[in-house]
Amino acid sequence: MSTTTHPSIDPQAISRRHPPFAAWTATLAAAAALALTNAGHAAPPPPRAPAPPANPPLATFPDGAGQWSNFTVSGALDLQSPFFQSLGSNGRSCATCHAPKDAWTSTPPLLQQRFAATRGTDPVFASIDGTNCPTLEIATPAEHQSASSLLLNKGLIRIALAPPVNAQFTVTAVSNPYGCGSTATLSLYRRIPSTTNLAFLSTVMWDGRESPVGRSIDADLIAQATHAVLTHEQAVAAPSSAVLDGIESLEVEQFTAQSTDAHAGALNVGGADGGPLNLAQQSFTPGSNDPFGAAAATPGVPPEPVFTIYSAWESTTGTSSVALARASIGRGERIFNTRPIAITGVAGINDQIGANGRPRGEVVGTCGTCHNAINAGSHTSALLVDIGVSAAALRTPDLPLITLTNRTTGARLQTSDPGFGLTTGNWADLNKFKVPTLRAVVARAPYFHNGSAATLDAVVDFYERRFNLNLLPQEHADLVAFLSAL
Ligand code: HEC
Ligand code: HEC
Repeated sequence: MSTTTHPSIDPQAISRRHPPFAAWTATLAAAAALALTNAGHAAPPPPRAPAPPANPPLATFPDGAGQWSNFTVSGALDLQSPFFQSLGSNGRSCATCHAPKDAWTSTPPLLQQRFAATRGTDPVFASIDGTNCPTLEIATPAEHQSASSLLLNKGLIRIALAPPVNAQFTVTAVSNPYGCGSTATLSLYRRIPSTTNLAFLSTVMWDGRESPVGRSIDADLIAQATHAVLTHEQAVAAPSSAVLDGIESLEVEQFTAQSTDAHAGALNVGGADGGPLNLAQQSFTPGSNDPFGAAAATPGVPPEPVFTIYSAWESTTGTSSVALARASIGRGERIFNTRPIAITGVAGINDQIGANGRPRGEVVGTCGTCHNAINAGSHTSALLVDIGVSAAALRTPDLPLITLTNRTTGARLQTSDPGFGLTTGNWADLNKFKVPTLRAVVARAPYFHNGSAATLDAVVDFYERRFNLNLLPQEHADLVAFLSAL
């Protein structure tokens, strides 16, 4: 699509990242191995036809809305994978932060338990980036706890980044509440993305910095893993290519989705296609369902409905609590697909050149204008946009305030995180972030790159304010019910 400055998809790489579903050779041993990570939780519901084996290897965990499940395409999670090995000097592995049982991320409730259980010695709290600043005192558990406030409260890791030397701006001031960073190297605080459902990625990292133009997502993931070992794991040397391949193959064969809703029950019955087994069958075609492509009847609205998994539930009748919950999820899906949203002031969309050769200006789209990947919710090409999450006006006192000055115009901009602008050095890219995948989203609160929305309810509030959506209370609840069933 024409909005992107950053295409990086290699279709062949995608097909390798998304192995055929036939790779199912579920053995009882594999299921037993998963059960180890899954003690005490109810068995998942059987998959709907045409899923082949009777007992697909799923691991299922509770969350605030019911249960989510993980499906590993090869049959079992390989706990010998280097993903689970400490490869550096601080005792961390990838799974320290991208913990399988915490929806492949780390959420505040489990982080707080980990802190309490280890008095802060769990390597996730390593001072390099698990604390708000490595210079903070951590000699006592109380000091360590206070130094780790952003990780404990919002699941944020400190990311240290310098602007490119040829950037169109200079960093003229930094106000960091922890005295961290300088105008040369910024300390930014970001959520740990879930390393699952990577088959639907078109951009790696919140700010796209691991997806340079022309590189495949496979190569991005290998480069990302190298950097993760050198930074988060504090290794002195890059890992071997065998280790990197081992990490990447584990990453790309995970599919994760909500599988049971506390009110609606199993999410793959009654014609619904929820849960990770259906998700693993979902294809992803780079550039498809383009809201501004030739197939779009209305510019800004993707040609196909983005989510179809709950269309059968839209017409649910009956007054049982299950029927009401299913109908609400179905209505929420419809709102996501069809509710018109007047998109204005979004850099990456409204300032892009439209079909008539002029900047598009206001676009009447939907949630799917940005979240257009079918039944996944990422964007099918590298779309980085500024929806305003890092705007100075929304910054809370626990986050830094960074002042940037345009080298040419002298214009000034304040932000809590410059996002994609720090990757490219372009003024126009400041405050842009990638469009995250939405599956299993309820399991990984808080939301947005800076954890500023504590719940999905707060996410919908954000969109209502940002785009003047006048959702009725029932519509708001339906949209939250739908997002909670992804
Ligand atoms: C200290 C916690 C931590 C550790 C350890 C860690 N990561 Fe991450 N990971 C993060 C954070 C935070 C981000 C987002 C950073 C950003 O976007 O600037 C991230 C981003 C990613 C992404 C990008 C996902 C996306 O949707 O864009 C991948 C893939 C990833 N990590 C894989 C790994 C691998 C592989 C390892 C081990 C070699 C690893 N991580 C170790 C915290 C961690
Ligand atoms: C103009 C593009 C755009 C539109 C329209 C849009 N989103 Fe988003 N969405 C994004 C971006 C970009 C992010 C990440 C922003 C950040 O973290 O700074 C995001 C993040 C999210 C998240 C948080 C995911 C996470 O893992 O943190 C949810 C949930 C979400 N959007 C749902 C919706 C819903 C529901 C709608 C429609 C009401 C919608 N979005 C409309 C671009 C968009």
